[in-house]
Amino acid sequence: MVRTVLCDLLGIDVPIIQAPIGSATGPELVAAVSNAGGLGMLSVTWHTGRDTQASAETFSLTTRPFGINLVINNDVHDKLEICLEEGVKIVSLFWGEPGRYIETSHRAGAVVIHSAGSVAEARDAVEAGADMIVAQGWEAGGHVRGTVSTMVLVPTIADAIAPTPVIAAGGIADGRGIAAALALGASGAWLGTRFVASEEARAHEIYKQRLGSAHADDTAYSELFDVGWENAPHRALRNSTYKMWESSGSLPSGRRPNEGEAVAQRPDGTPVLRYSSSMPTDSMSGDVEALVMYAGQSVELVNETRPAAAIMEQLKTESERAFDRADGERQFLRHAISTLAYRAGKVLRDAPAGFGSFKIGEASRTPAQILAHMGDLFDWALSMAIGKEKWSDSEPIAWDEGSARFFDALGKVDDHLASSLPLACSYGKIFQGPVADALTHVGQLAMLRRLAGNSVRGENYSRAEIIVGRVGPEQSPGRREFDRENETGPIIFERKETSE
Ligand SMILES: Cc1cc2nc3c(=O)[nH]c(=O)nc-3n(C[C@H](O)[C@H](O)[C@H](O)COP(=O)(O)O)c2cc1C
Repeated sequence: MVRTVLCDLLGIDVPIIQAPIGSATGPELVAAVSNAGGLGMLSVTWHTGRDTQASAETFSLTTRPFGINLVINNDVHDKLEICLEEGVKIVSLFWGEPGRYIETSHRAGAVVIHSAGSVAEARDAVEAGADMIVAQGWEAGGHVRGTVSTMVLVPTIADAIAPTPVIAAGGIADGRGIAAALALGASGAWLGTRFVASEEARAHEIYKQRLGSAHADDTAYSELFDVGWENAPHRALRNSTYKMWESSGSLPSGRRPNEGEAVAQRPDGTPVLRYSSSMPTDSMSGDVEALVMYAGQSVELVNETRPAAAIMEQLKTESERAFDRADGERQFLRHAISTLAYRAGKVLRDAPAGFGSFKIGEASRTPAQILAHMGDLFDWALSMAIGKEKWSDSEPIAWDEGSARFFDALGKVDDHLASSLPLACSYGKIFQGPVADALTHVGQLAMLRRLAGNSVRGENYSRAEIIVGRVGPEQSPGRREFDRENETGPIIFERKETSE
């Protein structure tokens, strides 16, 4: 999958980040995502005292980088200090003034990512020293900082704070969303709801099941679940509590139905109240469905609970596919290379014995020399593709070996184009040089075969079945549609029914 600046800055393989999802994150989830090459984020805000040592537990499950997250509307310096002492090197902040937390983190050598919901907030955080900004769109799950959609917020923030890297959050739950986020100018994607529905997440089973069946319009943006966190808009599923409140006239806090009612319990028996901001975790019991089930509009794309590693694999594959579709130039060049394989296959196969050394004049090259040159062209193409351009002339070899070497060189260039590795030169340079040149030489070889009395019959190449990625001699069986009526008169092509 494509690498971005974020991969180098954070030491990760793919720019996919498991967003902090409050009490649903535990060391198992974080480590699974980091071990899969992304970045796991441990929320430590609601951990108490030394319990913050969850970061130490995470260190025991992964050697890969991971981050911790703190909601900073209350003073959580003590928690930050504990995590930094434990060796955490990536700190994410949300919902408050980041300045002092950034200073403390930087002193400990940590990178700081601040989540923002507006350009003004992003700019302030960068001025305060934040190293990266999460642009959180309005469609996001959990507490929502701004009111602008991800599609508009990401490019706006990216332009406003360039070159500071931006990470897109809100509404992303599959590889297409990740590809779109990068196309919008983000260097990575931050997925919350998708990872709540992971096997490792500490969310209650009922909550996970609801995520699997809910649609985007089953989520609501409100300030309803405010016990423990007031005046903080959030997006969550419309559950029984929400519906009860709505049907009673959406009354303001203090006049809502059943306020103060204990609807669930923690393992130690502590009640969790209706309208609490605490989500249902796997250790709670009672009417957990009545608790806030944070979810973004991205829930539409979440159909089942899966292991985090499987989610990561799916995201990587899907985003690669999305990039392939989006990268029209790369696809076009691969098509040109496959076309060359098709046409070359036709002139190289079934050449008569001795054709390699057929010579029509002193100054002209033999077919074997032309074929060696065609192989050289694609060694050169690969060297350009990887950014180490070099040319070398090879000696002609036996026809079949020369043919195999040409297809091998062609295949290596196509493999590079099929990978997520960047192309070190422009697509145009590879087309105008090696590809166009080799196509010309295919024509030359076809002419030489005719002069050698062993014509390759023509076909309407626009109808050929060219499959991108098939670059060997087996590209597809050559067709014979046209034939030459006689060898001496004008060339008259006529279409023939063919079965070859
Ligand atoms: C269950 C849940 C809990 C969340 N808790 C936190 C949190 O503790 N800290 C934080 O910075 N963001 C939190 N968020 C917001 C996410 O970090 C992220 O911005 C959001 O999930 C992105 O939208 P998405 O859900 O469509 O992927 C939470 C989101 C969810 C769904």
